[in-house]
Amino acid sequence: MKVRPPDPETARRYLLRFTGWQLYHETERLPGLSSPELFGNERPLELDVGCGTGEYICHLAQSDPQANFVGVDLHLKSLHKAVKRAAEAGLGNIKFICADFRQMYPLLRPASLRAVYLHFPDPGIKPRYRKRRLFNERFLEEMHRAVAPGGKLSLVTDDEDYFRQMLELIERDRRWRRTHEEPYLTGFNPPVKSRFQRMWERRGRTIYRFELVRPSKDSIFSRTQPGMGTARPSSAEKET
Ligand SMILES: C[S@@+](CC[C@H](N)C(=O)[O-])C[C@H]1O[C@@H](n2cnc3c(N)ncnc32)[C@H](O)[C@@H]1O
Repeated sequence: MKVRPPDPETARRYLLRFTGWQLYHETERLPGLSSPELFGNERPLELDVGCGTGEYICHLAQSDPQANFVGVDLHLKSLHKAVKRAAEAGLGNIKFICADFRQMYPLLRPASLRAVYLHFPDPGIKPRYRKRRLFNERFLEEMHRAVAPGGKLSLVTDDEDYFRQMLELIERDRRWRRTHEEPYLTGFNPPVKSRFQRMWERRGRTIYRFELVRPSKDSIFSRTQPGMGTARPSSAEKET
């Protein structure tokens, strides 16, 4: 289904666009990824990196009006669909940013995010595209800075090779704790599934995921339950 760009008022309400030039040369003039800067309040903020057409983040925003949500994606037409979805639902706690997330790291604010979702990121099938993968050491480093103590990082993919890379990095990084005892989980059943989840499930692909929490003795988020699992040093066995 084709979607027209939002009218100017809807775009003003929901959509920001940061060019590479702005992100490189004018970072200090752009709002940071924090609730005060994006929403003018102090509510908890959750971020969906590569949100696509926004099914998942809109569902989260609808089910938790006391928090704020931001979806980032490179692809403007996908965000037009996401904006349409948010506007039709009358959501007042969500915004979308069209930008390359890898250039947005300077806009992250320390301990400003309650949750970060990286769901079905592009795996870059061809070897020469793998370096474009969003999940890497830098991503983890930046997320560790931006996720607040007690906040979580949710990683979901259908791509085994990418997932193995994620697991290897996570197992070396002892700063996070898993919220599950298993090294990883298969299957994902949120109340609303994203476009790519529905597509991969229709094709019979296995969904791999894990959820990490930035540990804290005194989590600032009552909603987030600290997990029981610990990162294991050896390579993970597949859950059966
Ligand atoms: C496979 S789709 C998944 C979309 C959505 N998360 C879902 O589950 O349906 C990956 C998305 O990541 C976006 N993306 C890829 N690289 C990106 C980057 N560097 N910055 C922001 N978005 C990116 C793509 O435009 C695409 O919408």
